[in-house]
This record gives sequence, structure tokens and C-alpha cells, in this order.
Amino acid sequence: MADSKIVNDPIPSKTCVVVGTRPGIIKMSPLIGELESRDVDSFTIHAGQHYSYELDGKMFDDLGLDKPKHRLSEVKNKEFHGEQTAAMLEGIEKILLEERPENVLVCGDANFNLAGALAARKLRLTLGHVEAGLRSDDWRMPEEHNRVMIDHISDYLFAPTEGTRKNAEADNVKGEVVVSGNTIVDAVQRNISIARNSSTVLEDRGLAEGEYIVFTAHREENVDDRKVLTDLIEIIERTTTELDRSVVYPIHPRTEKRLEQFGLREEIDAIEELILTDPLGYLDFLHLMAEAEVVLTDSGGIQEESCILGVPCVTLRENTERPETVSVGANVVAGTDPDQVLTRTREMRQGPHEWENPFGDGTAAEQIIDTVLDDSQ
Ligand code: UD1
Ligand code: UDP
Repeated sequence: MADSKIVNDPIPSKTCVVVGTRPGIIKMSPLIGELESRDVDSFTIHAGQHYSYELDGKMFDDLGLDKPKHRLSEVKNKEFHGEQTAAMLEGIEKILLEERPENVLVCGDANFNLAGALAARKLRLTLGHVEAGLRSDDWRMPEEHNRVMIDHISDYLFAPTEGTRKNAEADNVKGEVVVSGNTIVDAVQRNISIARNSSTVLEDRGLAEGEYIVFTAHREENVDDRKVLTDLIEIIERTTTELDRSVVYPIHPRTEKRLEQFGLREEIDAIEELILTDPLGYLDFLHLMAEAEVVLTDSGGIQEESCILGVPCVTLRENTERPETVSVGANVVAGTDPDQVLTRTREMRQGPHEWENPFGDGTAAEQIIDTVLDDSQ
């Protein structure tokens, strides 16, 4: 195998950031900013897992990020996790061989992170996993497979909280675990006032502060199952009628596709007080979340953001890898049974609405880059 060229010759301190999906771009944006502000030799690879403007280009525009130096385009619409991951692994490896960074940073649990992590590990580069140590213990989830695998091959595991540090250590990982907080706090702090000042999403949609509910669902184990997707539609419908609230649902392309495939389009379109939109830009979505009465979601990032913003969350899953949000009282794991979800939503809208943010003080990016660069050659 011909990997010794880079193994023996990485460029000291040169740092590669790998992005690839909407939440990956958002959570890596503070790290990209931190590297730029320190004038570190660095570059970004976009692995191409997300490519639609709403999930990708719009994020770069909203976050004021430069275009990534490298972008893979051969990943689009791969049907299986393996072939998607393989295409990204191959593409990322080629770029790493050309660029010869010393450090590679990936963030989270989507397939592109596993691809980036494997490419770095195989080339024996220093690998940092941002958002390490999260565990749902739900082995149905592709994200759980990815988290476990990435944690085990990383040199640095940047755990957002003490609980995630313990999870990683209980798994006997080989790398060094550093509790850094979550970069999502940095991202929210940097963008919330920009969002409040620039977004007109509430006026555009005729929404009053505190008088609507935000809904999102895209998780494979939910929307790829016809019965669960049908229950989710019932939840939306009953939220509008029984709780007398408009529901805003920026719909993910995976869910859009499944609605067509399962013949459920008409059912969702028939809900009168539902505002169904394309995915929103980050600034609009942040503003929408910040002023919502409650958020109903199966998203990981949205559980964190609603907690940081002081908005109660009802999680439409059987478990969460963000139990800190539940411990502080910001979130409840309700499953997808409509009766349960309606009951939990009624409880959560009563409050309390104040709790401590468990994900750090907004200096995660600083701490992560300090750690990586301190140990660089
Ligand atoms: C992926 C992540 C998930 C994360 C989510 C963030 C994995 C295993 N899943 O799920 O953890 O929560 O991203 O949003 O990595 N599509 C488009 N345009 C795009 C991207 C996808 O139309 O830009 C459609 C395609 O039909 C594709 C489907 O959405 O087949 C699913 O996309 P994929 O990237 O496989 O998974 P996500 O559901 O987005
Ligand atoms: N988000 C967004 N526009 C939307 C919905 C979500 O910008 O219409 C942002 C949201 O603020 C969060 C991230 O996307 O930071 C969450 O992405 P997603 O739910 O797709 O993935 P997950 O976090 O579950 O991996």
C-alpha cells in the first residue's frame, strides 16, 4: 500500500476541516472561523453528502463562510449507506494525499464524518472528533454506528459534556478525551442577534411570537417507516386543532421523498393550519425557533439549539443522545405515539422555560483549536 508518502511528510499544523451536511456546516462554522482568525494553514473539504441549495449553499451564505476549497460531487443520491460512505472516503483520501495536512477534524455522526475519519486514520493523520461520546444506545440508527466507529479511531475526542466524556471512556477509546463544550453554542451565540435583526420569517409567514409551534422530522427510523410517518402527520394535525396553534414545518428532502413514495402527500397538504415550507436558511430557522412556543423534532441539533435558546422541546424519538437537555428540563423524549406526544407537548408549553445550558459557554471552537495546535509538531 502506497500511503507512506503522506505518513512521513504531513505539513506541520496544517488543518483540514471536513463538512458535508447541513448540521455539519453549521457546527463546523465556528472552527473554520477560529482557524481563519489565527491565520492557521487550513482548508475545508465538502464531502458532498448534502448538495441542494437549501441544505448546503444557503448555509454557507447565511454563515458568511467562504466556498470550501474542495467539493466532492460524485456522492449525490447514492442509495445505500455503504456506497455513499465509500464514495466520500475515496474522494477525501485523494484530497488529503494532495494537501498533506497534519490534522483532520470531523464533527458529529453523519456518514461523511465516518468517511473523513477513515481516510485520516488510514493515512495516519491526527484525527479529532468534534461532538464525541454521544450515545443513543439505539443500534437501529446509522448515526449510532458512525459515532461509535469514529470515536474508536480518533486521536482527540472533543466531548461536549462530562456525560459524553464518560460514555467515551466507558467504551475504552484509545484517543484523548477533552471536554470542550459543543460548537453549536458558539454558532448560536454568533448568529442569534444577526438572525433577529435580519430575518423577516415571522412577518412573511404571519406568525406572532410565542404563538406557533415548530416541527421537524427527517430521521430515517421515523420517516422511512410508513406507520411512523402517518403518526407524525396525525401529531401535526392534532397539534393545530387540539392545541390551537399554527405549526411550521420546514420539510427535509428525505421526508418529502417518503411522503410521495407512501402516498401521504394529500394527507399532509390537507392540514389547514400547517405551514409547510422548503428547508429554511439558518438565520430564518434560528429566528423561527427562538420565538416558538414549543419545538417538536427528531433532530439532534435542534434539541440542542432549542435548549440553548430557552424554548421547550418535545423529542419525537424513543431515545436521545442528548440526555443533558432532558436533565435540565428543556426537553422530553416523547416517542411518536400521537396521544403521548400531545400530552407531553401540553406539559412542556406550561414551562418552566428557564434552565442552564449544559453545552458550554461558547468557547468550544477556541478550546478545540488550542488543543489540536498545541500538540502539533
Ligand atoms: C443525513 C444524516 C443524518 C442527519 C441529516 C441532516 C447519515 C446517516 N444521516 O441524513 O444523521 O441528521 O443528514 O440533515 O449520514 N437529499 C436531497 N438533497 C440533499 C441531500 C439529500 O434531496 O442535499 C435527499 C436525497 O434524496 C437523499 C435523501 O435526501 O437520498 C437522504 O439524504 P442523506 O444524505 O442520505 O441522509 P439524510 O436523511 O439527509
Ligand atoms: N436547520 C436549518 N433550517 C431548517 C431546519 C434546520 O437551518 O429548515 C438547522 C438547525 O438550526 C440545526 C440543523 O439545521 O442547526 C439541524 O439539522 P438536521 O435537523 O437536518 O440534522 P441533525 O441535527 O438531526 O443531524
